[in-house]
Amino acid sequence: MRNLAVLVVDDEKNIRHTLRICIESLGADVTEASSAPAALEAIRRTRFDVVFLDLRLGTDSGLDLIAEGLAENPNAAIIVMTAYATIETAVEAVRRGAWDYLPKPFTPAEIRHLLERIRVQRSTSVRLADLEERLQAEADAAGASEALGLGAAEALSFTHQVLQESLRLYPPGWLITRRAIEADELGGFAIAPRTDVFISPYMLHRHPEFWSEAEAFRPERFAAADADERHKFAYIPFAVGPRHCIGENIAMFEMLVHMHTMVRRFRLSRATNEPIEFEAQINLRPRSNLMMTVETR
Ligand code: HEM
Repeated sequence: MRNLAVLVVDDEKNIRHTLRICIESLGADVTEASSAPAALEAIRRTRFDVVFLDLRLGTDSGLDLIAEGLAENPNAAIIVMTAYATIETAVEAVRRGAWDYLPKPFTPAEIRHLLERIRVQRSTSVRLADLEERLQAEADAAGASEALGLGAAEALSFTHQVLQESLRLYPPGWLITRRAIEADELGGFAIAPRTDVFISPYMLHRHPEFWSEAEAFRPERFAAADADERHKFAYIPFAVGPRHCIGENIAMFEMLVHMHTMVRRFRLSRATNEPIEFEAQINLRPRSNLMMTVETR
């Protein structure tokens, strides 16, 4: 991946200088601007990946620059820098589209961590764009029939893999419990009668012993050849055994129909950059609504 292009906007020379040294040592290219007009001029000239923006720029407010900067380059990750005393302004900045905020004084480790997060997000979004294209191509090839029959659904093999990979990383049934009726032994451990045994599909699905690049979203791992090599109980989003989910087939079919119907007609993207928090109660799910922008294709 090419170096990140970073713009540092601050009216204090020392801060610009310190940031430059720190960011360049992390292998990114740095441009400096000391005022809002100079920053805007630079943003018009160069497609920056990241903009470190001081919220107090002489008489100008960095807040106004966020919208103007994003209008020029919607993909720029704007990090606003602010003192602890004005943290509310920083939160307002994030509401206005800033990627994150960085309280002053900051450490090189914090800068490194931020740039690393941005790099990961950039490479993930390139990969997600590629996955989206494959999903769309498969949905378009399956034709425009209103009702998706079982045969046509089976042809949606990549869509199926995307669903399987989603259920691997985020299994709604993230924890299954069983109570022993009588004494037993499990993996060398003695189980007394009436012991509750917890089995976590979430942990199992991310266990490095069974999955390479366990944290990465790679639907292709569910292609037949890879799947054959896997331990048969390493993937259990619907549980296994006599009490496994009786709705497994209908759930998969429903999800294929939903995906196929949506992907053929719409493009969805996240409306904000806010990190997604999870809630792990009976089901694993996002803590808040995921706001999406819907475009017709
Ligand atoms: C993505 C969707 C679904 C997932 C991930 C899922 C997952 C699971 C899991 C993990 C269990 C085992 C729970 C345990 O033993 O503690 C289970 C059981 C069950 N599921 Fe699902 N399920 C899904 C959809 C459905 C649907 C659509 C239906 C009905 C049409 C259904 C009906 C059931 C029933 C009745 C059981 C209890 C089976 C038994 O105890 O014998 N599920 N499901």
